[in-house]
Amino acid sequence: METVEGNTVHRAIEPSPGRIGVLLPGLGAVASTFIAGVELARRGLGRPFGSLTQMNTIRLGKRTADRSPLIRDFVPLAGLDQLVFAAWDPIPDNAYEAALRCGVLDAREHVEPIRDFLEPIRPLPAAFDRYYVKRLDGPNVKHLATKRDLAEALRADIREFKAANACDRLVMVWCGSTEIFLEETEAHGDLRSFEAAMEANDASIAPSMLYAYAALMEGVPYANAAPNLSVDIPALVQLAYDRGVPIAGKDMKTGQTLLKTVIAPMLKARMLGVAGWYSTNILGNRDGEVLDDPESFKTKEESKLGVLEYILQPEMYPELYGDVYHKVRINYYPPRKDNKEGWDNVDIFGWMGYPMQIKIDFLCRDSILAAPIVLDLVLFLDLAKRAGLKGIQEWLSFYFKSPQHAPSVYPEHDLFIQQTKLKNTLRWLMGEDQITHLGTEYYENE
Ligand SMILES: NC(=O)c1ccc[n+]([C@@H]2O[C@H](COP(=O)([O-])OP(=O)(O)OC[C@H]3O[C@@H](n4cnc5c(N)ncnc54)[C@H](O)[C@@H]3O)[C@@H](O)[C@H]2O)c1
Repeated sequence: METVEGNTVHRAIEPSPGRIGVLLPGLGAVASTFIAGVELARRGLGRPFGSLTQMNTIRLGKRTADRSPLIRDFVPLAGLDQLVFAAWDPIPDNAYEAALRCGVLDAREHVEPIRDFLEPIRPLPAAFDRYYVKRLDGPNVKHLATKRDLAEALRADIREFKAANACDRLVMVWCGSTEIFLEETEAHGDLRSFEAAMEANDASIAPSMLYAYAALMEGVPYANAAPNLSVDIPALVQLAYDRGVPIAGKDMKTGQTLLKTVIAPMLKARMLGVAGWYSTNILGNRDGEVLDDPESFKTKEESKLGVLEYILQPEMYPELYGDVYHKVRINYYPPRKDNKEGWDNVDIFGWMGYPMQIKIDFLCRDSILAAPIVLDLVLFLDLAKRAGLKGIQEWLSFYFKSPQHAPSVYPEHDLFIQQTKLKNTLRWLMGEDQITHLGTEYYENE
């Protein structure tokens, strides 16, 4: 499986031909923008900006070696042409209707030209329960007696889609709504308890966990784009290891938190203090409506709040970061639709404690930032599976607000450490040297 040369390891990676089924629980703004974007890129009608797998290069060897291939030429990634799509959603809109309704992409320029492709993508009946997403309802749902039955029905969907579309491999990405805040319980502790809890319709088993369970049981890599627990429970993490399946999560890092994980490391790098960080957002899409429910917002809030604590390390620098007032707000404001506005006010202090302020106003488009992440997760998880990587893929932390991590370590939030980890993992997979940025050899002999 592995060859070792010096400190580098080269994994034998299975080749990437064939069709890859992309399974999406949730066919809303993110999923429809992602699917449409892939097809637009395939037809030469749009460019996949924001995606590392499509646009980014990777430096190999010394700066003098001048080797910087595209990532997709360096690691054996699947191509866009290999992707086929399936989705589940309680709302029966097909991908064309969903793209129009969400209003992210321009209807005339980017939705109508690919109508023929989007319309046949119809969501399968969902494993859905309003208890977990209070602000939503829809008729396209499975009616079965137990959660175990629902999970088995999802497994059957996966197998049928795979066979009907002659897929060689599959990847699942949860693009469903943010579920209510749940804490880990005994039911999540190991597989036996989890399966018993599904049979008993235990409230601690949310629908997103059923999809994750179904994916893992079918050997399908799983990523969680939302902040709800889903695959981030011991029973399913263990299942992923046991079945040799890679997993990643949670909550894609797209807007305000992306900026936060760049600004906060900068402040810490320069030993500038932080007195307060107030973040507020307005957005008007369905995600915003769901997050207007306090129980779903709590799940998101937990995910957004953790970031500063880990980056600033107040226990190590109590004078600088021991008393940070951190507040995060999300306000549902329909006129803005998917075009979120995120304001940050950061109260900082420097030399002799003199106060200063940073103001950020980020006018972003939620799903435009999210779609390339879904694409990268699909292609990197497929690569990980072929490379024999299993369980939590910490090198994909780069994409998440609350990166899943081993219990023995804290999560890494600094975007540039995450980026280094991602690229060094690719170098390691391909047997290339790690890049340390030391470079003393250029100056030592001067
Ligand atoms: N857009 C971003 O920048 C971003 C960033 C991080 C996380 N997220 C998360 O990604 C998720 C999707 O965001 P969105 O903007 O597409 O939201 P959306 O509301 O447009 O789409 C979510 C879809 O999931 C469906 N759904 C809910 N429960 C389901 C279930 N049990 N099974 C199948 N489908 C189900 C809903 O009906 C809806 O169509 C949300 O949880 C959001 O918080 C988005």
